[in-house]
Amino acid sequence: MTAPAYDAILRGGMVHLPWGAVATDIGITQGRIAALAVPAQAAGPVLDVAGLTVLPGIIDPHVHFRDPGDGAVETLESGTRGAVLGGITTIFDMPNTNPAIASADTMALKAASIPGRAWCDVGFYVGATRANTPDLALFEQQPGVAAIKVFAGSSTGDLMIEDDAGIEAVLRSGHRRVAFHSEDEYRLQARRNQFRLGDPYACHAEWRDPECAILATRRIVALATSTGRPVHILHVSTAQEFAFLGACRGQASIEVLVNHLTQVAPECYERLGGYAVMNPPLRDRAHVDAAWAALNDGRVDTIASDHAPHSRAAKERPWPSCASGLTGVQTLLPIMLDHVAAGRVSLSRLVDAMAAGPARLYGLRAKGRIAVGYDADFTIVDLKARRRIENAAMASRCGWTPFDGLMVTGWPVITMLRGQVVMRDDAVLGTPQGALVSFA
Ligand code: DOR
Ligand code: ZN
Repeated sequence: MTAPAYDAILRGGMVHLPWGAVATDIGITQGRIAALAVPAQAAGPVLDVAGLTVLPGIIDPHVHFRDPGDGAVETLESGTRGAVLGGITTIFDMPNTNPAIASADTMALKAASIPGRAWCDVGFYVGATRANTPDLALFEQQPGVAAIKVFAGSSTGDLMIEDDAGIEAVLRSGHRRVAFHSEDEYRLQARRNQFRLGDPYACHAEWRDPECAILATRRIVALATSTGRPVHILHVSTAQEFAFLGACRGQASIEVLVNHLTQVAPECYERLGGYAVMNPPLRDRAHVDAAWAALNDGRVDTIASDHAPHSRAAKERPWPSCASGLTGVQTLLPIMLDHVAAGRVSLSRLVDAMAAGPARLYGLRAKGRIAVGYDADFTIVDLKARRRIENAAMASRCGWTPFDGLMVTGWPVITMLRGQVVMRDDAVLGTPQGALVSFA
C-alpha cells in the first residue's frame, strides 16, 4: 500500500480533540482535516509543532470592526489582522456600523467587503429595527448571517428596539437564535439625571446598574418563552442574571466577555478612567466571581471580546460623554490562556467555550472542533510563553488596549486558516484569505 499524501502535516503537537487532549499528528488536504493519525512515511510538507498545543481555531463571536463607517478607528482588514495575530480564526461582526447592517443592500455590501480584505473567516449580525422586523425571517437565512442582533437598550449607534411589543415582533419573525444586548432602556433613561457631566468614570456602573441588566434579561426571556424562540444573552455581567439564566437553559444561552472575567470595579475605573467604560459596565468583585462560577459550572456557552474600538479622544472625554467600548480581539485568547495558567479555568473548558460552544450555538458549519472533514483551522499555542501585552503591538487602528503592560503566560504562535499558516511568531503571512462562513 502506498503511503498517503497530504497538503500539510502538523507533526508532534498536543492536540485538543473533542474527546480529550492527545499527542497526534494531523493530515490536511484541500483546507480540511483529512486524518488524525498520520503514518511516519506519509508524504507532504511538515509543520513541526512539537512542544506546542494545537487547539481548534478559536472563534470570537462578538466584535465591532466599524466597517463600513469609521476607518480611522478600525476596518475589516485591521480588525481581522488583529484577530489572527491573537490566534482567532473566525469572527462574527456586529451591525452597529455606519450605515448599520439592517437591510438587504447593506447586507450585500457587508458580504462583498470580505474577499481580499479579511485575514480570518467572517460571519456577521443583522441589526433588528422596527422597519425591518418583517424581513428578519428572510435576512437570517442569508449567507454569512450569524444571527439577528437586538439592542434592547441604547449603546453605540442608533440601533434599538426597547419595548416588549417591538421585541416580541422580532421574536415572531424567523426561527434562529436571536442575540440581545440586554439593558433596560426605561431604567437607563429614568436614572440619567441623577448623574452629572464630569462625575467619576465609576458612575458608569452605578447608572447602568445590575437592576438595569436583570430587568431587561427577565423581559427578554419571558418573551422568548411565550414565543418559543431561543435567545442568546450577550455579555451577561451580573450575579443576578447568571442565577436567573441558569434556570432557563432551554430558552436562553449565555455569552461572557473576557473583560467581565478580568477587570474589577472600582479599581479598573481608577486605573483606566474612560478606558474602562463599556456597556454593560465592568462591575465589582461579586459579579466577576459569579461570572467565573458560571464559566466553570458550564452555564456559559460562549466567551467573546466585544472588541469595540474608539479613538483615544473619544475615550478621554469626561463621563458620560466618553465613548463606551473596549478593544480586545487580539488579546482575547492571550488573556484567557493566562487565566488557564493561573488555574482559574481548564484548557478544555476554554476550548469548549471558545470554539465548540460558538460553533454549536450559532450552527456554524465545519468549524469549532478538530475532527476529520472539518476545516483545518488551528490555533497553535505555547502554554509556557511569557509575553507582555503592549499598545504598540496592536493591529487595531485606535492603537490602545486596556491590558497595555500586562504580562501573560500563554501565547498563540501559529494561526492556521483552512490549511494555510496566516500568522506565525506575531507576523501575518501572505494575503487576506478570509471568507464568509456558512451556517446550518
Ligand atoms: O461598550 C459597548 N460598545 N457596548 C456596546 O453595546 C456597543 C459597543 C460599541 O459598538 O462601541
Ligand atoms: Zn458589542
